[in-house]
Amino acid sequence: MPELPDTMRAIVAPAPGGPETLEESEVPRPSPGPGQVLIRVAAAGVNPVDAKTRSGAGAARFLGDADWPWIPGWDLAGTVVEAGFGVARFGVGDRVFGTVGFPHAAGAYAEYAVAHVSQLSRSPRSLDDAHAAALAMGGLTAWQALVDAGGLETNQRVLVTAAAGGVGHLAVQIAADLGAHVIAVASPDNVDFVRGLGAYEILDRTREDWADGVEPVDLVLDCFGGPARAPALSTVRPGGTIVTLPTGGDREAAPDGVHDPTVFVAPDGLELQLLTGSVERGALKPHVSQVLPLADAARAHELIASGGTQGKIVLTID
Ligand SMILES: NC(=O)c1ccc[n+]([C@@H]2O[C@H](COP(=O)([O-])OP(=O)(O)OC[C@H]3O[C@@H](n4cnc5c(N)ncnc54)[C@H](OP(=O)(O)O)[C@@H]3O)[C@@H](O)[C@H]2O)c1
Repeated sequence: MPELPDTMRAIVAPAPGGPETLEESEVPRPSPGPGQVLIRVAAAGVNPVDAKTRSGAGAARFLGDADWPWIPGWDLAGTVVEAGFGVARFGVGDRVFGTVGFPHAAGAYAEYAVAHVSQLSRSPRSLDDAHAAALAMGGLTAWQALVDAGGLETNQRVLVTAAAGGVGHLAVQIAADLGAHVIAVASPDNVDFVRGLGAYEILDRTREDWADGVEPVDLVLDCFGGPARAPALSTVRPGGTIVTLPTGGDREAAPDGVHDPTVFVAPDGLELQLLTGSVERGALKPHVSQVLPLADAARAHELIASGGTQGKIVLTID
């Protein structure tokens, strides 16, 4: 095993600001503590919360002054290059992926990152690192919203807004695999895409009346919030559940009897193992629409903030 360097390339945000503030720098390489591994990162998934946090919103409230300059990123895939004290679950050379450290600073946009083993899974054999990185936060969020918070059961009716996005495209597949009747809300350009994911009905979100006439559903996963929440709410049956993912800002109250839990994604290696199993069975496949080199992180943030992403954007690190 070649000796590890003392420094590494990373994308750094000096202080909260615009995407243009992101710059590639040479910074000290982290070392794994007890229960942690050091990962040579091959790919980092880009999530809306990365750009929101860089701008001072999102998870910035969980960062302290000492976390700036901040290395963005929570989703990663790569190879274990060093194991800390007491690590038995993974060894040097294992391919792993995960959402690590969220919502605290974790630094996935870098050549190396450390993560606690409880937040990692072995990468699916059938996925390259870019696709494994694309699965982490979107897949965990979808699972935690649909199953942990939403209690989704076979034969239930579930409606997913922003169904073509990073969370939505995985949620449609997970819900369909669980035997639910999936109604996807998407723009006309994404109809074929979401149908291919297993959506049974597709509603055109560009029509103001898209929710009119929808037979009541048991569960709504509203991945967009804002203007999508009111029509989405109108489709939930009494006693049903709505999970609206964007957590910032005011939101329309749900009627009495409709459950409205707040979901804030939590790193979870065991749930990632479940998702890995679904991938290996052929029931779940992350879609990567854009792969950019690490140096193009600012461009990746502009793209993710535009809201038009189909599936995921991923940064690769040579
Ligand atoms: N609470 C949590 O723990 C948690 C976890 C993960 C993500 N989130 C939040 O959940 C949201 C979704 O995340 P994501 O990764 O899926 O985002 P994303 O990948 O950026 O979502 C993009 C999708 O949004 C759809 N969209 C764009 N404009 C829309 C509109 N006006 N109405 C409805 N849909 C629209 C687009 O599809 P169409 O053009 O086909 O509509 C696009 O495919 C973000 O706000 C993110 O921060 C929260």
